[in-house]
Amino acid sequence: MANVNIIDHPLIQHKLTLVRNKSTGSKEFRELVEELSLLMGYEVTRDFALEEVEIETPIGATVEKVIAGKKVAIVPILRAGLGMVDGMLKLIPAAKVGHIGLYRDPDTLEPVEYYCKLPMDVEERNLIVVDPMLATGGSASAAITFLKKRGVKSIKLVCLVAAPEGIERMQKDHPDVDIFVAAVDERLNEFGYIVPGLGDAGDRLFGTK
Ligand code: PRP
Ligand code: URA
Repeated sequence: MANVNIIDHPLIQHKLTLVRNKSTGSKEFRELVEELSLLMGYEVTRDFALEEVEIETPIGATVEKVIAGKKVAIVPILRAGLGMVDGMLKLIPAAKVGHIGLYRDPDTLEPVEYYCKLPMDVEERNLIVVDPMLATGGSASAAITFLKKRGVKSIKLVCLVAAPEGIERMQKDHPDVDIFVAAVDERLNEFGYIVPGLGDAGDRLFGTK
């Protein structure tokens, strides 16, 4: 069963409330989504492997720790996932970035793929898939199925707001993928939007509505 981590640090709850507020405009929305991604990234990277290295401080020799293990790729699900990339890159500046373009058909709510560009060595990397919204879970599940077909073994999914339906779908389709969210909301409405949620994340990020 996938591990669901709810990262509810007070700073995250505060910023998420601002993001949810419909009177928050695109500029502030973008800034907040970036800040939230950075704060969440701190927990998402908590299990990163370390190795010891010998260094010299100005005072003397010592053995200290640095990040080791597999390299990272951040994979936003377009469009809205783009808003979470810069925050993650601030923490992991050497990460590569792959892009998966999916949109949700408004009638069927099924994901439609329109773009994919991944790092050449994607299967050797630890992947962090980012998308602000986990609603039905169709988009995240399809993106992760695709990544697994490309040979990727290690995947974490990071979303700001999830619906119980999306979590259930991910646990059924991808029990091996750990999920990190800032909040699990009540439910989906009849249009597949998360209630209370934050509205359409892509439109709010890019000012398209
Ligand atoms: C949103 C969101 C997710 C998807 C979640 O994208 O960013 O990718 O919906 O819904 P699901 O869990 O039911 O699949 P959208 O399809 O609106 O595309 P956009 O990011 O291009 O606006
Ligand atoms: N996609 C969004 O952007 N918002 C929702 O609430 C559900 C899907």
